[in-house]
Amino acid sequence: MFGFEGLIGPTTEDLKEMHPSLIEDCSLSGRVAVITGAASGIGQETARLFAQAGALVVLADLEEVGLDATAAMVVEIGGEVVSQVANVVHRAEIEALADLAFAQRGRLDVWVNAAGILTDFAILDAEEAEIDRLFATNLKGQYWGCAAAGRVMQRQGGGSIVNISSAAADNPKPMLSAYSISKAGVNMLTQSAAVEFGAFHCRVNAIAPGFIETPMVASAWLDSEGQIDAVQREEFLRARAAATPIGLTGRPRDIAHAALYLASDASRFVTGQVLRVNGGLVMR
Ligand SMILES: NC(=O)c1ccc[n+]([C@@H]2O[C@H](COP(=O)([O-])OP(=O)(O)OC[C@H]3O[C@@H](n4cnc5c(N)ncnc54)[C@H](O)[C@@H]3O)[C@@H](O)[C@H]2O)c1
Repeated sequence: MFGFEGLIGPTTEDLKEMHPSLIEDCSLSGRVAVITGAASGIGQETARLFAQAGALVVLADLEEVGLDATAAMVVEIGGEVVSQVANVVHRAEIEALADLAFAQRGRLDVWVNAAGILTDFAILDAEEAEIDRLFATNLKGQYWGCAAAGRVMQRQGGGSIVNISSAAADNPKPMLSAYSISKAGVNMLTQSAAVEFGAFHCRVNAIAPGFIETPMVASAWLDSEGQIDAVQREEFLRARAAATPIGLTGRPRDIAHAALYLASDASRFVTGQVLRVNGGLVMR
């Protein structure tokens, strides 16, 4: 009608399936991807999606039972998987994880730092052990992840690292100072590593999720016996959704999709960025 018909390429009528070149851009076929925090929530779903995209996934977490569950999900969809119990706090364990991943196929293409913890306390009540645990897990753990992945990716001349940050990094809230600071540190780690690793074509980006329903946040609607209080859950989710312009809360798959974009060649020109996947909760 406006004379654009010939300019906009094939219409949905002509093209019934995704074009193979587009599938190739987003594919992880033949690639090796490490995912920490893979026993639960965002890490688990990322492992599942990456396996669907063709990657051999190397899963790491403190929790062996959860790791086994994720591995079973990957096997169920026909994926290839290796699991390793590892504590991201300890550099030697993370270096060994990188070596394990590399040993699978002589390459390490993607590393997702998803392991993390959330604890809330007022600054005036902070205990030294709690502060140390939080910073060690959320910040030092991702630092060692970047270092271990970067070491191998330097040798092979490329790769993609995805750090999981948080909307909390942009948004100070009472009781969440240590968590927010750790995630603000992750954003700067991401930019610093992007600058150092660019020379060997390793891209480093972060995803800052808004509220995502995972076991990490589920304590908000457990009753005194640890059972799910359905009414409380409903109210909590409604309030979180209402805080976003699009009126939604997030699912692990929303973050996994963003991770797939950053892991794959679709994002070959993207590095040092924080992708805010949060329903518009925070805009930067
Ligand atoms: N759920 C949310 O709303 C939300 C929002 C923003 C950011 N995040 C971030 O997303 C990431 C994943 O969180 P999630 O919501 O899936 O939580 P989750 O609790 O479901 O999963 C976190 C996983 O990390 C593992 N882990 C914790 N400490 C570890 C350690 N020292 N070594 C190895 N593994 C360890 C846990 O065992 C768990 O399996 C975290 O970094 C979290 O801070 C979550």
